[in-house]
Amino acid sequence: MTTTIIGVGNLGGTVARHLVNGGEAVALTAKDESRAQALANELGPLARAASVADAIDAADTVVLAVWLDPLREVLAEHAQRLDGKVVLDPTNPIGFENGQMIRTLPEGVSSSSVVRALLPAGAHYVKALGSLGATQWADTANQEPRVVLFYATDDEDAPATAQRLIRAAGFEPMDVGGLAAVGRMEGPGGDLQGRVLDLDGARAALTTEVTT
Ligand SMILES: NC(=O)c1ccc[n+]([C@@H]2O[C@H](COP(=O)([O-])OP(=O)(O)OC[C@H]3O[C@@H](n4cnc5c(N)ncnc54)[C@H](OP(=O)(O)O)[C@@H]3O)[C@@H](O)[C@H]2O)c1
Repeated sequence: MTTTIIGVGNLGGTVARHLVNGGEAVALTAKDESRAQALANELGPLARAASVADAIDAADTVVLAVWLDPLREVLAEHAQRLDGKVVLDPTNPIGFENGQMIRTLPEGVSSSSVVRALLPAGAHYVKALGSLGATQWADTANQEPRVVLFYATDDEDAPATAQRLIRAAGFEPMDVGGLAAVGRMEGPGGDLQGRVLDLDGARAALTTEVTT
């Protein structure tokens, strides 16, 4: 089974590295294909680089590790290729203005809702891999006790894949409570975003009522 990662920047590159360390095969793609090729060369035989179209077609599972605006362009061209595939979406509605982090979507509109609207109905969508930052991934993977990565989905097939990949990457998967709760794991503002928690801590945080 191959997981395609679209985007090999801070997050996509980190996800690729951790999945390969966990024994998963990855196909890597970026705007500049030479960047995907350079990372594939570094990661060895479990990694290869390809064009976006070829990488999606070759995979069962696709990670969208691209900022929202370029992602809209990627999906305008390639969304139909994702029909029937498990799609992991780590995007957060974050941008930077004058060095300050800003929210790029209106309050109450999740990045997840924007991405889902651009996908074919047959895609098995799961919000995942974005509840911790790339630096937190590097610092906390394979820790004992395992650190939790949250995911959210209403799909029946997607959880098994999300759980397998999260475990391979060196984390413990935890369902945030379906897509109704997805805002809790998106930044900026989600109360579970960027929280380094073990299983007990994550269970306690999940049951804490969010009043905002
Ligand atoms: N960084 C984090 O800690 C973090 C944490 C959680 C979630 N996220 C989410 O992850 C996503 C990526 O963030 P990032 O920090 O990894 O960004 P980044 O470092 O800027 O990397 C973005 C990647 O997207 C690729 N890309 C851009 N346009 C593309 C296109 N048309 N086709 C294929 N690839 C394209 C870029 O290709 P090139 O390499 O060729 O430029 C680059 O590899 C964002 O949605 C962000 O919200 C990030």
